[in-house]
Amino acid sequence: MKLLGLLVVLGVGSWAAGDDSEPRKEPSQRLLTFLSLFNGYFSSAKEVKAEKAELGYPVHDVINATFRNVFVPALPNEITFYLEEEDNGVVYRMQILVIREDELGIIRIAPYNFTDTTKYKPGQFDVTKDLENVRLEELSPTRPDCEIVFMQTDVNVFVGTFPDCTRWVDGGHPKYAFTLSCRTITALVYWGKSREKDSLLPYDHRKIVSYPLLPYVAPGAENFKPPCNCS
Ligand SMILES: *[C@@H]1O[C@H](CO)[C@@H](O)[C@H](O)[C@H]1NC(C)=O
Ligand SMILES: *[C@@H]1O[C@H](CO)[C@@H](O)[C@H](O)[C@H]1NC(C)=O
Repeated sequence: MKLLGLLVVLGVGSWAAGDDSEPRKEPSQRLLTFLSLFNGYFSSAKEVKAEKAELGYPVHDVINATFRNVFVPALPNEITFYLEEEDNGVVYRMQILVIREDELGIIRIAPYNFTDTTKYKPGQFDVTKDLENVRLEELSPTRPDCEIVFMQTDVNVFVGTFPDCTRWVDGGHPKYAFTLSCRTITALVYWGKSREKDSLLPYDHRKIVSYPLLPYVAPGAENFKPPCNCS
């Protein structure tokens, strides 16, 4: 009896060792679809090129954005993405996004600042090597009103609000309406003037590169394909 008691205690002790946050539950199909649509390198260059050709001048800026599934050793139990956004070649936002789905199926994303954007040129930050050195205490949570939220509105469509927490306008952050679908992320500035050229039409960020999800996200995640009719 005594030995059995000791074994039980040891077993529980080693399960909890070094891990004080709750283990994550398996992601739903909805979350996997969201993550795989979101996982890519996007650019509005095509839209800008078409505007120059048709009108002789651009209505939008060239915005290139990376939203990429990464593993952050400092956040081993979270699904994380690396975000890097560039406006005409200047990196203006680098964040770590912690992505969860709530009990209503709403995708909730907490952005964390972790480094100084001015130190980097587009594409210079190495998501495999450089994230290893990011420590928990360097991840600074942004304000609660920086939360990014998405809801699913159709098979491959997610619509949400994405505040620009790097800017302040009239006591608040500019807010983008994002629509994420198979080939694009469209982003409309719907409140507050943000960094880029103002336009009543959304920025149309085409997916240039699609990244696979990482195996830690779920068993077989690296082979997960969203139910799109496109490749
Ligand atoms: C943005 O992406 C487009 C399309 O891939 C590319 O042609 C352009 O050079 C990129 N711009 C910058 C500043 O990286
Ligand atoms: C996060 O970084 C941006 C600059 O990229 C800055 O404007 C913002 O105030 C920072 N937020 C916090 C909470 O540190």
